[in-house]
Amino acid sequence: MTESPREALVVFTPSGRRGRFLLGTPLLSCARQLGVDIDSVCGGRGICGRCQIELSFGEFAKHGIVSRPEHASEWNAVEERYQSRKGMKPGRRLACQAQLLGDLVVDVPADSQVHKQVVRKRAEVRAIELDPPVRLYYVEVEEPDMHNPTGDLERLLQALERQWGIKDLNIRDLTVDLRVLQGLQQALRQGDWKVTVAIHREQVLTTIWPGFHDTAYGVAIDIGSTTIAAHLCDLSTGEVLASSGIMNPQIRFGEDLMSRVSYVMMNPGGDKEMTRAVREGINRLLQEVCAEAGIETSDLLNATFVANPIMHHLLLGIDPTELGGAPFALTFNSGITLWAEQLDLEMAPDARVYVLPCIAGHVGADAAGVILSEQPHLRDEVSLVVDVGTNAEIILGNRQRLLACSSPTGPAFEGAQISSGQRAAPGAIERVRIDPHTLEPRFRVIGSDLWSDEEGFSESIRRMGVTGICGSGIIEVLAELFLAGVILSDGTIDGAAAARSPRVFQDGRTFSYLLHESADPEEPRIVITQADVRAIQLAKAALYAGIRLLMDHFGVERVDRIQLAGAFGSHIDVKYAMILGMLPDCALDKVSSAGNAAGTGARIALLNQQARDEIERVVRSVEKIETAVEVRFQEHFVEAMAIPHRSAPYPELSRAVVLPKPRFAEGPSEGEGRRRRRRAG
Ligand code: FES
Repeated sequence: MTESPREALVVFTPSGRRGRFLLGTPLLSCARQLGVDIDSVCGGRGICGRCQIELSFGEFAKHGIVSRPEHASEWNAVEERYQSRKGMKPGRRLACQAQLLGDLVVDVPADSQVHKQVVRKRAEVRAIELDPPVRLYYVEVEEPDMHNPTGDLERLLQALERQWGIKDLNIRDLTVDLRVLQGLQQALRQGDWKVTVAIHREQVLTTIWPGFHDTAYGVAIDIGSTTIAAHLCDLSTGEVLASSGIMNPQIRFGEDLMSRVSYVMMNPGGDKEMTRAVREGINRLLQEVCAEAGIETSDLLNATFVANPIMHHLLLGIDPTELGGAPFALTFNSGITLWAEQLDLEMAPDARVYVLPCIAGHVGADAAGVILSEQPHLRDEVSLVVDVGTNAEIILGNRQRLLACSSPTGPAFEGAQISSGQRAAPGAIERVRIDPHTLEPRFRVIGSDLWSDEEGFSESIRRMGVTGICGSGIIEVLAELFLAGVILSDGTIDGAAAARSPRVFQDGRTFSYLLHESADPEEPRIVITQADVRAIQLAKAALYAGIRLLMDHFGVERVDRIQLAGAFGSHIDVKYAMILGMLPDCALDKVSSAGNAAGTGARIALLNQQARDEIERVVRSVEKIETAVEVRFQEHFVEAMAIPHRSAPYPELSRAVVLPKPRFAEGPSEGEGRRRRRRAG
């Protein structure tokens, strides 16, 4: 190509895109023509400040270019105005104002890119690529002309096409919300023919503001049976501006999911009451997060939801009765986009809401969120992702196949059905260590950083006391008692241990272990009973059996990595979970907590529109396994009642922990135990 003296070369970093342009071309235009990712709301008018760039000077042998300060036009009055009003970092220019006057290297900082990466806290997961479903466009619209009569909308659409040249947006098929039409003429005149519009998923014009409008917010919501959590995000930066949670107000209709379905079955109109309750709760939560971020609920343009199937149906106003019994049929299992108004949500009048798809009757949109967050479908190794709640949702697979099931663990892991159990809250014992010789415990409670044998502990818990034991504490105390030989392989609290310590004592026909007794008679004694051990055994056997069933279907004997999602999964110490046999054997450094992965999935779907299409695709391909109809589930369940397991070996765990020899309360001798293991193996 012959070089024209009237042209110059520009190279954009970090993309490396390069091209020659006529001298005087604004750098934003060069970037657009080269497909460089630079943000803009105002369309190059120097108002939005989204197009900021940094010029790099010097000799760039790699690019074959000498970039000098005089190769860009001088700082102009528009930049000066923006700088004085909003401020810019030193060295920054507005790409829409700076013109190309000679060869230049131009850096586009991450915060000026539309598709910027939103970094997540955990290093092992991919950053979220920002690609929001709602984008704002500022346009200047021609005034009506008696000689050329056209509608205001037609002129707005022409302006959008001319000023934005948006190739992906099919203006002809662009649909416009009726409410936009209702407010269009007023907005145009009020804004002196300058307006900003919001376009949803590049197809629907949903909102119009007079003049320049630069803020778009969305909210990602995770509806759990116990709590509802919301994350308010700035859709242009991906930043979480506020997070909050409330108790799910449906709790007054029933603690767990099945009791809520029963409520619907026994009370005509009960579903409507619960739908109203959850929507009112969400509206309260929206007010809370908006107040924290200093915005109005009417500024919320988009929302995403994840929920288990029953919560999902009740949110949408669908009677969940069918989910209460076999064959657990969902009403539908795709995602759905609605107006916020259809769900009575107090957001912008034309805000859109996307509800992620449910996978199966027991595996909800929350599991879809977990998949989006943890991406087992994009990995070569076999991942196991477990979200433990009243029902454990289990996902197993890799990029070839993904399987899902749920397993009825019951509420024991959450502290229910445990004599001293409670939810994870200040005062609950969450960590436990037991001296294997003296059987003396030490522990930590939520709300204090000190162990119970450390100086200052009593003072640190003076106001809250020790009120009970939460899920992670129960797992640890049972595992420690097992390691200390107090709990046998079949789960029996060994009466012989009473001779070793008075903490083991006869309690009716069985034995119990006294974990804590306060000098204050008002405080409860924290005792681990035989019934508590049984409740956890049943829960962990159900969890393991569900996992093992998926492994059978997948055809693997071991998994490469395990991620524990949900509140329980975040707090639990994986080593202790494995000692009890909740999970199959795996290298301990490959087992990690995924935090609130369902909520993160909702946030990904909020910030990246492609993720919505992706999860729809993945959910369609997930193989759903129904544990209730699988004979093998029962077999696996029985084997998994033993601690850690009747027959499955734990070689990886054994490398990290010395496991006691299998001992059973009655019947099988050690030799018998070995015979059973051989038979099963
Ligand atoms: Fe808005 Fe440059 S594009 S300031």
